[in-house]
Amino acid sequence: MKKLIVSSIAGSALLLSCGPKSVAVTGPKYTSSEQLAQGKTIFENACSKCHKLPDPAKHDDQGWIKTLSRMAPKAKLSDDQHQMVYDYLISVNKK
Ligand code: HEC
Repeated sequence: MKKLIVSSIAGSALLLSCGPKSVAVTGPKYTSSEQLAQGKTIFENACSKCHKLPDPAKHDDQGWIKTLSRMAPKAKLSDDQHQMVYDYLISVNKK
């Protein structure tokens, strides 16, 4: 019986950890020019601290999901800022 309780607690903790609190960026969300402009500003300010500003055309839409999921925490972006930077990047990365 004790085992059952423990495993159900562990199970719900697991569920919580991938709950809606921290929404990973998995695709585009914003399209308004205001939010894209904000994404550009955040990108230019936050992403030039440690290295030169990367070329948005360096990655395709999928590639930016991966790279930004590593870089957004480095730049201490909120989930929303992360999303806006992503949406800006994929709005300008088309060759
Ligand atoms: C705290 C320092 C730091 C900040 C802030 C930062 N980066 Fe980086 N970035 C690095 C380091 C270190 C590397 C090289 C090692 C690596 O690739 O993880 C790197 C590598 C990269 C690369 C090359 C690797 C790849 O996957 O193409 C890109 C592109 C990049 N960063 C984009 C960004 C963007 C966009 C932002 C803003 C959201 C950002 N970085 C903010 C430290 C930072």
